[in-house]
Amino acid sequence: MLAVIAFLAPGVVLAWARTCGRRLLPALTMVALAALTFPALPWLLVGGAVALLVAGTRSFWFDAWCKATPRLRPVRVRRWARVGWSQEVGAVGLASLRSPTSPLKITSVSDAIHAVWTLPLGVTLADVERERLPLAAFFDAPRLDITPVRPSLVALTWRWDHPLAEARTAKAPTAGSVALVDGLALGRSESQADVCWHPLTPATHALVVGGTRSGKSVALQVWLTQAASMPDVLICGVDPTGLLLAPFSEGPEEDLIALGTEPESLAHAVELLAHLVDVTLGERLARLRAHRLDAIRETDDGMPAVLVVLEEYPAFLAACAADDTATGRKPNERLRTRAELYVQRLLAEGLKAAIVVVIAAQRADADVLGGYRRDQISTRVAFRLESADGWRMVLPSVPDLGVDDDLVPGEGYFSTPGKAVERFRADYIDYPTYRDHVEQAMAWRRDHLSEIPI
Ligand SMILES: Nc1ncnc2c1ncn2[C@@H]1O[C@H](COP(=O)(O)OP(=O)(O)OP(=O)(O)O)[C@@H](O)[C@H]1O
Ligand SMILES: [Mg+2]
Repeated sequence: MLAVIAFLAPGVVLAWARTCGRRLLPALTMVALAALTFPALPWLLVGGAVALLVAGTRSFWFDAWCKATPRLRPVRVRRWARVGWSQEVGAVGLASLRSPTSPLKITSVSDAIHAVWTLPLGVTLADVERERLPLAAFFDAPRLDITPVRPSLVALTWRWDHPLAEARTAKAPTAGSVALVDGLALGRSESQADVCWHPLTPATHALVVGGTRSGKSVALQVWLTQAASMPDVLICGVDPTGLLLAPFSEGPEEDLIALGTEPESLAHAVELLAHLVDVTLGERLARLRAHRLDAIRETDDGMPAVLVVLEEYPAFLAACAADDTATGRKPNERLRTRAELYVQRLLAEGLKAAIVVVIAAQRADADVLGGYRRDQISTRVAFRLESADGWRMVLPSVPDLGVDDDLVPGEGYFSTPGKAVERFRADYIDYPTYRDHVEQAMAWRRDHLSEIPI
């Protein structure tokens, strides 16, 4: 017993001296303890050597130990937040010269560390999101979730789990039971909230971008499964792969679908786009003028929203260009030029006429979607992209967001006006289920909806 006391005494006295900041009292106590435990003097000396070694090397391991969590005790986490946060914030350039850095308030520590932080003057949510990776390293965590609570308050969650590891199965609503106001669910965010695109509130076109096998087509299938069940949505589009829109080509609106890259299909695709611009858009705009309205805000089966799906849009344009060359068309008759012009008109003027364009592409390159056209598409879905350049083109407000991410198929970022960019995992639907569902929805439409209103 005496040996144990003698061994521990130097460490306890040294810790006490560090925390109380005094020297004399701990030194006198040490002398008294040495006298009392004199028979165990060797243990006292060993204890003293160990305590000095620990204190001397503290600067090398203490901070790392404090950060090496999640399983670390809350008290350590809180201490590290207190001593390290303002320095960290300064190091990543989020400190304000005009106001002191407010402390990081740890709200709970479990498998994840939850905290709230008041943003310094002049620092925005986007600034914090830009520094996501260095801030995640503050607790050596692989991930940091940043959620706005109020304009100047953010909730920060350092996580070690991967909340998007599993994909949910996509919803397949019964035909006629849903409408466009319900929105088109795409998946769920890291906070398990639904990620949903509401095409008409506010009205936006959508761009789905991602490298090959990144999950674009599955995401479109998830949207189309729901849209097919909405009586106030009419689906049309161009699909050079022939897979995505194939089940719609057997429905009552088959003329509104162009599949494949055969010369006749390409010509049909361009005629379809021409019809959408010259007839549908033209008539709808005339109708708006006649009714002294500036936009169609409510849709029903008599005046449906028209969802123009352009799957693999760059591949479609490339096929048009190849056909133009092969047939030696005159410049003003070229399919590619015409297709691009019609799409541009739909992007520029479609929304007020409830004509919504969805473009899927492996990249949003300028030669296919020049800045002007891209700017008119304000809902963006970005799946895995190989280059920083690719990210910059899709999410210019947070260009570095996904650059170092290891995104699995179906995992990406979702951006729509009025909301912060969210990381999400798209729901999953397999192709046979998708086909079955759309075919059932088409059968329902044939029985329940009257003539094609466009
Ligand atoms: N949300 C998801 N959850 C789970 N797996 C998915 C998800 N989305 C896609 N995948 C997987 O990734 C594969 C490729 O997806 P998809 O066909 O949508 O890619 P893509 O981006 O359209 O590729 P490509 O450019 O080659 O057409 C799918 O077959 C599926 O196995
Ligand atoms: Mg695809």
